[in-house]
Amino acid sequence: MAIQMHDIEKSFGTRATKVLHGITGEIQSGEMVSITGRSGSGKSTLLYIISTLDRPSAGDVTIDGVRFSAMNSKQLHGFRNTKMGFVFQFHHLLPELTALENVLMPTLKTRSSKTRRAFALELLREFDLSDKADRLPAQLSGGEQQRVAIARALVMQPRYVFADEPTGNLDSANGQLVMNLFRRINHERQTTIIYVTHDQDFAAMASRKIQLVDGKLI
Ligand SMILES: Nc1ncnc2c1ncn2[C@@H]1O[C@H](COP(=O)(O)OP(=O)(O)OP(=O)(O)O)[C@@H](O)[C@H]1O
Ligand SMILES: [Mg+2]
Repeated sequence: MAIQMHDIEKSFGTRATKVLHGITGEIQSGEMVSITGRSGSGKSTLLYIISTLDRPSAGDVTIDGVRFSAMNSKQLHGFRNTKMGFVFQFHHLLPELTALENVLMPTLKTRSSKTRRAFALELLREFDLSDKADRLPAQLSGGEQQRVAIARALVMQPRYVFADEPTGNLDSANGQLVMNLFRRINHERQTTIIYVTHDQDFAAMASRKIQLVDGKLI
């Protein structure tokens, strides 16, 4: 089980500015990989491509032996919903739903809310949020909101979690807490974690570091 990147290129716009210049590599299932690089070096672009949220201009991505480009949109949605979890810098919680309801959002599509509810509560307990399950996002601190967003990314027990600057909006204590959670999930559940960060200490917590320079891997 792995994610394979085959000579990925990405260009944007009519004047075709090339952002990624032929990225090739492999991320094994169970790895914890950090992606670093200067602003504009293509980190988010690469993360979105390897997580199926965007398509490369050339090259291909294979995940668990299946080529993205060969999947139709139904297959892609099924894949995203059951095998992948996403965490972003801004948590994108739905303001009118409670913490628990937000965590259960991904279960609606597969109609598994009932069966996943106990697990969602267990995640909230693991993340020290047991007493806040019924609160709305506005009634939670930034760090608590991000922990809810991570619980949401994990509720389907995905094989892969993709995170774009998950600590970018947090103070250092909450950032550390979130990174410790990621490491625990990686250790205890063998979940593959791929995250972008600007923080060198957080990058060093990975089992492998990838650095992007001008759209190339080093
Ligand atoms: N949709 C788009 N249209 C045009 N250009 C884009 C688009 N998305 C990204 N770019 C450009 O591609 C380059 C890489 O962007 P990307 O968001 O991947 O950088 P990044 O490494 O994540 O930077 P940051 O650390 O600031 O988040 C940038 O020059 C950006 O302006
Ligand atoms: Mg970015």
